[in-house]
Amino acid sequence: MVEIAPSILSADFTRLGEQIAAIEHAGAAYVHVDVMDGHFVPNLTVGPFIVESVRRATQLPIDAHLMIENPDNFIGAFAAAGANLISVHPEATYHLHRTISYIHQAGCRAGVVLNPATPLAMIEEVVNDVDYVLVMSVNPGFGGQKFIPSTFEKLRRLRTLIQTSGSRARIEIDGGIGIENAAAVVAAGAEILVAGSAVFGKPDPAKALRELLDAASVQASERSLA
Ligand code: DX5
Ligand code: ZN
Repeated sequence: MVEIAPSILSADFTRLGEQIAAIEHAGAAYVHVDVMDGHFVPNLTVGPFIVESVRRATQLPIDAHLMIENPDNFIGAFAAAGANLISVHPEATYHLHRTISYIHQAGCRAGVVLNPATPLAMIEEVVNDVDYVLVMSVNPGFGGQKFIPSTFEKLRRLRTLIQTSGSRARIEIDGGIGIENAAAVVAAGAEILVAGSAVFGKPDPAKALRELLDAASVQASERSLA
């Protein structure tokens, strides 16, 4: 089943609770929170404080995407604030396996993130230890960027890696996702679609979410008939 994780990066923060309630009601599966430190990526966003507010606004699992250096220092704080899933970039930590253990010890599902230029080999040794792999289809740091087409091939190779290794990891995709490419990324292996501007950047986020879910699910049902 395809799931959508709207990213609040493109939300109206003056009406955050209301906007999250709208997408929850419309069928979102997660709330994706983009955490940026101004070092690992050239932008600054939010910390555990906002995750705590999001936690009070929704029952949905919170998917914290940490684009920060030394994520080990903050895993406890994000878990305590209410994050349910925490993903980290392999380049941002010295001991990825240990970081994944910390996420699990904090009671969260653990994900690893692949930047567009990061090879699959970076996560091969931990693919059986993680709950999901997040494939970046733009360079992290900003919402509203253009989808990088080479991601399709990477998704297919990742799906093969997961199948052959017996991993139970799910595949999440993040960056430039919209109704025009949702079906294609699902066909290539994506199971959870992050969408910022395609949901919260639209005048009616709930309607945009339903349309995205429809666009993504058509492909999924066609695939299950095949
Ligand atoms: C980018 C973030 C994304 C971003 C996606 O660094 O990781 O989650 O919000 O935004 P869109 O969907 O607009 O590309
Ligand atoms: Zn993200």
